Amino acid sequence: MTSLENSPFTKGKLANLTLRNRIIRSGCFEGMCQEGKITDALIEHHRRVAQGGVGMTTVAYCSVSYDGRAFGHEMWMRPELIPDLKRLTEAVHKEGAAASIQIGHCGFFSNPKEIGRRPLGASVKFCLFRLSICEAMDEAQIAEKIEDFGRTAEQVKLAGFDAVEIHAGHGYLLSQFLSPWTNHRSDQYGGSLENRLRFPLAVIRRVRQGVGEGFPILIKMNVSDGFKGGLEIEEAVEVAKAFETAGASALVASCGFTAKTPIFMMRGNVPVKEMAANQSEWLLRLGMSMFGWFMVQRYRFDRLFLLKEALRFKNVVSIPVIYIGGVLRLEDISYVLSRGFEFVEVGRATVRDPDFVKKMESGEVVASDCDQCNRCIASMDAGGVYCVTASEGN
Ligand SMILES: Cc1cc2nc3c(=O)[nH]c(=O)nc-3n(C[C@H](O)[C@H](O)[C@H](O)COP(=O)(O)O)c2cc1C
Repeated sequence: MTSLENSPFTKGKLANLTLRNRIIRSGCFEGMCQEGKITDALIEHHRRVAQGGVGMTTVAYCSVSYDGRAFGHEMWMRPELIPDLKRLTEAVHKEGAAASIQIGHCGFFSNPKEIGRRPLGASVKFCLFRLSICEAMDEAQIAEKIEDFGRTAEQVKLAGFDAVEIHAGHGYLLSQFLSPWTNHRSDQYGGSLENRLRFPLAVIRRVRQGVGEGFPILIKMNVSDGFKGGLEIEEAVEVAKAFETAGASALVASCGFTAKTPIFMMRGNVPVKEMAANQSEWLLRLGMSMFGWFMVQRYRFDRLFLLKEALRFKNVVSIPVIYIGGVLRLEDISYVLSRGFEFVEVGRATVRDPDFVKKMESGEVVASDCDQCNRCIASMDAGGVYCVTASEGN
């Protein structure tokens, strides 16, 4: 039985923002920004998620600049998007939910074919998934990206978003600076953790300056990269503390490195066949179908698979820590709240059924029937994210 104290269906506060409940749809890349534009499908997708009962929905991956994209159907922030993004936030608000948007940069795994140049990264690095080598950012490029993050956050606020989520995890650019696996710099941005933090902290401060006090800044970050030589929990705990001091309103404790351990952040099946079919280049398609099992490692799925690590963050910061990873049941959410987390972010269960939250609230269901087949990952590159199992009538 859920006590009222640990009920997901009570209001919660994120900085100055009050959410109707404790459940946030996590950023799940929609694949609905063809040519970088906001489509009606994207707006409808989030309206539908909002209608399904979440407290807040998160529009996934908005690049802070043209050169931070991995796909042609990813948006990059610019003033002409604001009117359409306003339509999106208004549609979400009408359904009683708040709207957040995830801002980031792909760094070394940006797609050279889409961005028309060599990708930027912390240090020179080969990317297996792109078959490309990035260049190490110089100080002027670092300063430019800090400004890009700040400008993007300002535009997001103008578009009516209630919160912004900085992507500093999953091996995206900020995470590439934090990770010893990708950052081999010998200047003030590399080496010690203090140096590796310098760029991400400057980004957070610039975003805070752009959106003002009281506006919720969530930061999605790693408790660990998920492999030897990457960021590990001991350093991640220090990163969490530094992010709080720099102006974060809440931390989303995630994990994984998109260009090395892409399934670590979600666990479960690796949909190699579907992923290979979506590769536009024949060499990658061949590589993925022949070596997919080697390229994309499999990790066992457990409910609440990040709880132990996320609790380490909870112990060292006083801002809300948002739990993410393997939330499938109502009792999971109540348990997480009973451990002191203020909110949960939920991905696949809301892809499987956008009404998941509403149905739990009404008592119609107590659990999601998502089976972690993870074919939704491949669907986002094939016209827009959806639950493939549900579309098959299962
Ligand atoms: C189809 C799909 C797309 C995703 N896209 C993103 C993304 O754009 N940004 C991000 O931070 N995480 C992304 N994720 C990861 C989820 O937000 C979440 O961290 C992960 O799935 C674990 O949560 P879950 O067990 O509730 O699904 C994606 C996950 C899925 C399944």
